[in-house]
Amino acid sequence: MMNPVYEKLQSCLASVREKTDFIPRVALILGSGLGDYAEEIEIREIIPYEEIQGFPVSTVPGHKGRFILGYINKVPVIIMQGRVHYYEGYSMTDVVLPVRLMKLLGAEILFLTNAAGGVNFQFQAGDFMVITDQIASFVPSPLIGPNVSQLGERFSDMSEIYDKDLQDLLFHTAKELDIPLQKGVYIQLTGPNYESPAEVRMCRSLGADAVGMSTACEAIAANHCGMKICGISCITNLACGMSENPLNHKEVQEIADKKAPDFKRLLTAAISRM
Ligand code: HPA
Repeated sequence: MMNPVYEKLQSCLASVREKTDFIPRVALILGSGLGDYAEEIEIREIIPYEEIQGFPVSTVPGHKGRFILGYINKVPVIIMQGRVHYYEGYSMTDVVLPVRLMKLLGAEILFLTNAAGGVNFQFQAGDFMVITDQIASFVPSPLIGPNVSQLGERFSDMSEIYDKDLQDLLFHTAKELDIPLQKGVYIQLTGPNYESPAEVRMCRSLGADAVGMSTACEAIAANHCGMKICGISCITNLACGMSENPLNHKEVQEIADKKAPDFKRLLTAAISRM
């Protein structure tokens, strides 16, 4: 009997392959504020999620739901304009289905981006952070359930989730562009509520530098199926309790939008070299 997760994946794959034979090298997931980057590349194909049989469709305002396939300076890419979050009510296997699908389409590298709250006192709103490692222990692993052995092993090694060479590439590229970069550990909580001040202290004492509601689970799935991974967080705010003002999604979006031009420059330059 076929693994139901793999079966669904195969049906999504068939659905995409009916529309295009494009083979991406880099898979890019766009976080808050970055969505329209996808429209600035040399587009070959646009596939709305709802046209893919069984594909989870995002419901967050500001997150569009479609794949854009094309080229960034000759590098074939598949871009997710809008990701699916666990807090929307999807199972973790559905949340990571897009990542696995992009792998099956041919992507070898996964480039993760997100908006996150700064937990490290050295960070400021508007900083970019290269993700060096992650804590995903507060969300269920997307690998729970029968192992999808066609993709990877039951017990996957996690000693270098975020590829060192790709991290170096990000730092070199950013330096050339004169874009400052922080680095640190990303912790994923479920959301959709932001953290309490006590939870933010907890995150910090556990060794996290930034907190968000996505990304780490996607990295687990990508690591399981053997993709090379890199990630950048846009620190849109200091996490709750670290500044006077309460948090709201609008302010998070405003900072994400304001930092988008630099973020896009960095993405283009870095991906061109991948
Ligand atoms: N917490 C969690 N997720 C976030 C935050 C935050 O402060 N800012 C942007 N995404």
